[in-house]
Amino acid sequence: MRIALIGTGNVGQALGVRWAQLGHEVIFVTRDPGSEKVQKILAEAGAGVRAMRVGEAAAAAPIIVLATPWNAVQSVIGSVPDWSGKIVIDATNPIAPGFQLAVSGDNSGAEQVARWAAGAQVVKAFNTTGAENMRDPIYNGEATTMFICGDSAEAKAITSQLAEALGFMVADVGPLTAARYLEPLAMVWIRLAIVQGRGRDIAFRLVQR
Ligand SMILES: NC(=O)c1ccc[n+]([C@@H]2O[C@H](COP(=O)([O-])OP(=O)(O)OC[C@H]3O[C@@H](n4cnc5c(N)ncnc54)[C@H](OP(=O)(O)O)[C@@H]3O)[C@@H](O)[C@H]2O)c1
Repeated sequence: MRIALIGTGNVGQALGVRWAQLGHEVIFVTRDPGSEKVQKILAEAGAGVRAMRVGEAAAAAPIIVLATPWNAVQSVIGSVPDWSGKIVIDATNPIAPGFQLAVSGDNSGAEQVARWAAGAQVVKAFNTTGAENMRDPIYNGEATTMFICGDSAEAKAITSQLAEALGFMVADVGPLTAARYLEPLAMVWIRLAIVQGRGRDIAFRLVQR
């Protein structure tokens, strides 16, 4: 699959490098394709990867992952004239200063993304675990869980395939409005890992009997 990742930070690097190593055609979307940071990422990811600016990458890729800080999301989306037909995987969390959710209650960041990127099929995914777990989601030999939600069955199937390729077990929580629960769940991970200091080697696993 051809996948563009917007943002070359912790999440963009983790997902992009792994998918490239698994044989996907990865485009790293960055404000500075020539930077030393981006050149290092391209070298780690291996053959067949490219770095582009946001407008040209959106034209080139049918699947676009949002992996920027929340305060950059609206302007990044606004720099692409037409989102129709794109699959947008929203890995962001709408975090305001002080580890607070900037959007909550009867709204979510993902629903806001869907309004901004009108015409796209938006899936919320990769927001409820740390970037290190995206590189290695296996704990004690067992897959940890990637919760996803969205309104398009096709977009969720593709997102599930991409998450399973990394080693996650996928749990589909339902329509995009379920992001109202997945974004607060990310805050639970952040509280445990960072605020309480358990460290980033923690992950959620759904068990069933
Ligand atoms: N870190 C985690 O473990 C984790 C886990 C799950 C979800 N998330 C969420 O995923 C998103 C990304 O997190 P991260 O830790 O990867 O962030 P990060 O390391 O701060 O990187 C974000 C990247 O976004 C780009 N960026 C930053 N400001 C921008 C702006 N004003 N306009 C356009 N692009 C900008 C930068 O890439 P360029 O310099 O190449 O443009 C930057 O490297 C956040 O919303 C976060 O809440 C994070």
